Amino acid sequence: MTIILEGKSLTKYFGGLPAVRDVDFEIGQGEIVGLIGPNGAGKTTLFNIINGVLKPDRGRVIFRGKDITGLKPHTVCKLGMARTLQVPRPFLNLSLLENVMSGAIFGNHNTIARSKAEEIAYRMLEVVGLNHKHYVIAKNLTLQERKKLELARALASNPEIILIDEYMGGLNPAEVKEAMELLQRIRKEYKVTIFWVEHVMRAVMQLADRVIVLNQGLKLAEGKPSEIAQDSRVIEAYLGGGVV
Ligand SMILES: Nc1ncnc2c1ncn2[C@@H]1O[C@H](COP(=O)(O)OP(=O)(O)OP(=O)(O)O)[C@@H](O)[C@H]1O
Ligand SMILES: [Mg+2]
Repeated sequence: MTIILEGKSLTKYFGGLPAVRDVDFEIGQGEIVGLIGPNGAGKTTLFNIINGVLKPDRGRVIFRGKDITGLKPHTVCKLGMARTLQVPRPFLNLSLLENVMSGAIFGNHNTIARSKAEEIAYRMLEVVGLNHKHYVIAKNLTLQERKKLELARALASNPEIILIDEYMGGLNPAEVKEAMELLQRIRKEYKVTIFWVEHVMRAVMQLADRVIVLNQGLKLAEGKPSEIAQDSRVIEAYLGGGVV
């Protein structure tokens, strides 16, 4: 398996308190890797370190063989790493089409013409299921629709890997199933590797090839979903009695 993304001893302190401590991980090309753990475990902070929103106090991020530690998010994006935010922040006064076009134009490694960006935006809105809302202004979307928009914008940058920070919270079972099919389609059809933070355990356990568990900033466990679901440390720290 080709390693596409690697974290080495990643560490980040906030005001003297460690949010992420000595975290090592490897993501293989084409994998779907789940990142789970309790609230405040450091999942979003780890993503922020990986895509350059935060500089780690210690450690390195290696992406496609290149040390990208400390590079800015827009540079990292152009290298092929897209990211969705836990709390979406679209351009509220722009249409969905314009929001996704911005991802295609500014995130893409190559310079692309407006007409091409528009074509990509139409396609990605279709992929996430917002194709009937091209001209809707983003501020009128529900939270779930904003999440879809985030994903469309991220995909429009033509990434090799996408970091998804919670996508399924608040969805009903039918919507979770649909979202799982979407992630599978993204991997299969667009060949995008997925590193995915999620609290909806039944989705992670069914979809992820591997799961990494963070707890209080430390990597607590890593393995196949079936192994993680039975790991007594993980059950104690996070899963409790009610797995999947
Ligand atoms: N910018 C910041 N300044 C200070 N502390 C922060 C900052 N960002 C995060 N933290 C703290 O770092 C720790 C890890 O937070 P983080 O948001 O990474 O957790 P998380 O695993 O994503 O949680 P959740 O599942 O609730 O999203 C928490 O204690 C949080 O309060
Ligand atoms: Mg988070």
